[in-house]
Amino acid sequence: MKFCTIGCGGHASHSHGPSQKLYAQRHPEVELSACCDLNPQLAETYRATFGFQHCYTNLEEMLAKENPDAVALVVPASATSGLAIPLLERGMALHLEKPPGLTLNEYRRLLTAAQKGGGLNQVAFNRRYAPALVRARQWLDRDIPAQEVLHIRYDLVRYSRNESDFSITAIHGIDAVQYLARSPYREIRLTYRELPQSGAGVAAISMEGVCLNGTEVSLTFQPMSGLLEETAAIHAIDQSIHVNLLGTQATFDGETSHWCRGALKSQVMVMNQELVERNGVYYETEAFLNAVQGIGTASPQLEDCRQQVILMEAIRTRKSRVDFADRDATRPNVSDVVRELSGIDR
Ligand SMILES: NC(=O)c1ccc[n+]([C@@H]2O[C@H](COP(=O)([O-])OP(=O)(O)OC[C@H]3O[C@@H](n4cnc5c(N)ncnc54)[C@H](O)[C@@H]3O)[C@@H](O)[C@H]2O)c1
Repeated sequence: MKFCTIGCGGHASHSHGPSQKLYAQRHPEVELSACCDLNPQLAETYRATFGFQHCYTNLEEMLAKENPDAVALVVPASATSGLAIPLLERGMALHLEKPPGLTLNEYRRLLTAAQKGGGLNQVAFNRRYAPALVRARQWLDRDIPAQEVLHIRYDLVRYSRNESDFSITAIHGIDAVQYLARSPYREIRLTYRELPQSGAGVAAISMEGVCLNGTEVSLTFQPMSGLLEETAAIHAIDQSIHVNLLGTQATFDGETSHWCRGALKSQVMVMNQELVERNGVYYETEAFLNAVQGIGTASPQLEDCRQQVILMEAIRTRKSRVDFADRDATRPNVSDVVRELSGIDR
């Protein structure tokens, strides 16, 4: 199988390159054919560092010469849909970085292109593949029916993140909560504490709401705090699951614990893993490239990402409420929703 990747910048070099190299080492049937970046030095460094055979500065030239079976797209969010649409239309198997479109309009065009081309696609929501979150979801599926989860809290905390549009990072939390809830959102209220002293568009963001299955949710996004942290707390009657995705202490890289009436039932520490394993990027790359070869399913796909894009855009445009009930209430019933969603998970 011939694989190519587009964009050799920060996130690609930090996470995708090491993941692609590791996957190729473990799966010799996969050929790292070529990488591409507008910047020739970045392209050459990526090629040499991660073991790609060739590098290019022109995407179309790379595709014409290499004729790959699968492609990853890791370019600035503003460039993603413009580059992804022609790839999807021609049926190319595509692993595309989040967000899947900057707006609902872009998202719809991506989805239409995917449906037209009929190829496989996977959106890079790597939290779904981070071991700490994967374990939480496994325990939920085993022990707590979706409609019995009372509340999910998700805190995505960063420092010195004064970019004007934090919504394209917040979308990770929006996706992770939907994945843990095992249900679409029904309605979300949003509030903002604007931080003009930190820069234009910078704000602490809070989201409160409820999912279609009755689970209440609360999400906070703090771009300018004092630490880097990402945690989830899931509560049901007699049971709670706590997830620390990143691990803020030197001794561990993440942790998931399951509590029953005050007693610790299970605890897993994510330790001694490669960065790209604990942040999930290796496992999402593995899921995608396996799926291209007919093993397992690629998830999430574009069709699973509509609500995430709507809520991301709501943050950017400072909406105070998003009501999904009109459209999503037409789904048959909660158990069908749960079955439908569990079918897309790995
Ligand atoms: N999943 C995560 O946790 C996570 C974290 C950071 C970034 N991201 C996503 O990764 C993507 C890239 O972000 P980044 O921070 O690496 O950006 P970046 O600017 O560092 O890198 C993007 C690269 O794409 C290249 N590029 C742009 N247009 C191109 C084209 N037509 N052909 C070839 N190369 C092209 C640029 O030259 C640049 O080197 C974004 O979509 C971002 O949302 C995801």
